[in-house]
Amino acid sequence: MSILKLINKYKTGELITMLTCYDYPMASMIASTDLDAVLVGDTLAMIVHGHADTTTATLPMMVMHTQAVAKAKMPQVIVADLPFLSANLSPRDTLVAAGQLIQAGAQAVKIEGCDRVVDSIQACTQSGIPVMAHLGLTPQYVHQLGGFKVQGKTKEAQERLMQDAKRCEKAGAFALVLECVPPNLADSITQSVNIPTIGIGAGSKTSGQILVLHDMLGLTVGRLPRFVKQYAQAASLCEEAVSAYVSSVKSGQFPQKEHEYKEVVCEL
Ligand code: KIV
Repeated sequence: MSILKLINKYKTGELITMLTCYDYPMASMIASTDLDAVLVGDTLAMIVHGHADTTTATLPMMVMHTQAVAKAKMPQVIVADLPFLSANLSPRDTLVAAGQLIQAGAQAVKIEGCDRVVDSIQACTQSGIPVMAHLGLTPQYVHQLGGFKVQGKTKEAQERLMQDAKRCEKAGAFALVLECVPPNLADSITQSVNIPTIGIGAGSKTSGQILVLHDMLGLTVGRLPRFVKQYAQAASLCEEAVSAYVSSVKSGQFPQKEHEYKEVVCEL
């Protein structure tokens, strides 16, 4: 799917569905579903690499995972995250980094924040790189925010987020992720901008939803945020399969004849 088709869905009032995706097998599985878009999110630093937050994601990591996802030749739009600080130094540096993600197979990049990165959003969109903005809880700013907390809890913070959403739209962002904000604020922002809002922990009034794939599949190690709904318990299924393998090897039930190659008898 192209970004234009995604925007068209928004214009016709269809809700947009997104999940994160970090690797080739998961991308191949998603390719056969009717999900609209995937995000090669920098949450891969936590979910796949076991780090405490996303500030440890690097551009080479993002490029490598984007390449793996793109190998699945999925019909979904692929958006890749610009990792920690890569959009904050200068618009020029942002373009160089975004270019690497596009060359790795993404069709768009996602940039967290507004103030310091609004010129970078504009530089990308004016250079043919679609940008998904990201406001509310922006995990790359975790140390400044004092943890993974709900944002937009005061009138000032709400006004600020509303202004930032409009600034991101003006800078050319084609969509906006709203993470961990009160549902009424997400609703107001959605009604005030003319680009799709993709919510995560932002209630039901956004133009679409995104979740971390491993969270919704039941594969995430550790505590889950309140906004996650689990659609499967995949870790338990995998544990059962590993235990079954261990006992069948120990009891001599695996491998059987059908798992062997033909016997070849050579004169020694
Ligand atoms: O990196 C990520 O996975 C994200 C989503 C949670 C929106 O930014």
